[in-house]
Amino acid sequence: MKFMQRMLMAAAVLLAASGTLFAKGAQGQAGSEKGLIGVVMPTRSEERWIKDGNAVKEGLEKLGYAVDLQYSDDDIATQTRQVDDLITKGVKALVIASIDGSALSNQLANAAAVKIPIISYDRLLMQSPNVDYYVSFDNYKVGGQMGDILITGLKLDQATAAKPVIIELFAGSPDDNNSVGFYQGAMDKLKPYFDKGVLKVPSGQTDRAVIGTLRWDAAEAQKRMENLLSAYYSGNVVLNGILSPYDPISLSCLEACKAVGYGSTPGKPLPLVGGQDCIVASVKSILAGEQYATVLKDTRSLGAATVTLVDTLMQGKTPGGLDTTSYNNGVKVVPSLLLDSVIVTKDNVQSAVIDTGYHTKAELGL
Ligand code: GAL
Repeated sequence: MKFMQRMLMAAAVLLAASGTLFAKGAQGQAGSEKGLIGVVMPTRSEERWIKDGNAVKEGLEKLGYAVDLQYSDDDIATQTRQVDDLITKGVKALVIASIDGSALSNQLANAAAVKIPIISYDRLLMQSPNVDYYVSFDNYKVGGQMGDILITGLKLDQATAAKPVIIELFAGSPDDNNSVGFYQGAMDKLKPYFDKGVLKVPSGQTDRAVIGTLRWDAAEAQKRMENLLSAYYSGNVVLNGILSPYDPISLSCLEACKAVGYGSTPGKPLPLVGGQDCIVASVKSILAGEQYATVLKDTRSLGAATVTLVDTLMQGKTPGGLDTTSYNNGVKVVPSLLLDSVIVTKDNVQSAVIDTGYHTKAELGL
């Protein structure tokens, strides 16, 4: 219940701050003459972006806006063309979850020239003065939760340098600014354990540039995991854990481990791995005792917060309650609305995932 309340509060915060909460209800019946809103999502091939796209579209349509929702197939040229087209169509606002955060500067300048407000969705649009708002989760905190998953799951507080815990690290796409927060948040949590020598990375690969996964590609991560296992784990060294920033990466790392006997050989249990996005396959894996945890970033609350922000702007009001210090895109600090995320393990799947309706029992095969 606490989780649902937080979700609703996040959606309400902008309206409440701008004093429009009740005024809106009185005039919410208008049709799509309220104008067209352009929404661009990076790919349809990942479960979460479909949920995000639907949440934003349905929410805006309920308020009487028309919505043009585009998916970019993780292709930068497609995304730039889509943004160009939406500007030509005369959208009243643009909501963009970028592929490469720095690749849209020309489009953003064109949009700004015709006064289209630009909302950076989940991923920060970088290196442009023409980003008006950012709606996301607190990515540094999310990274901290990824670190906490390893600290708790691997019982690092009880580990000693005489018998260090062995892990490997994976990061997200280098062109996605979120990867920085996730990595930094996790590494700041893990640093004391590295410093004490209770945590070791046999490959020595710890730099974000080296451990990154372009376009969050799970197949690429699986290949890297296979290479690590054959290069550094051929003797008696057993991998105990993996830092993973994304559920499909977690699952493909587990596959690579299974392929060399983890989970089926005495003394080689599956390594402990967290993740992010709370996808159905990962929740199933958590329930089956394989993936240990994930971080749930509720796409419904992100969508609702975005809808509220767009509507506030369309009414000519100034949104309130924003963080105006945390997210610098290289050119400016972008006013941000940062939502809370939740760690999900086997223990709270019921309350955090099923009771909140994020996934149904049927989706989870229960
Ligand atoms: C990130 C996002 C994550 C995950 C990843 C891959 O930008 O914050 O939640 O979805 O992209 O799509």
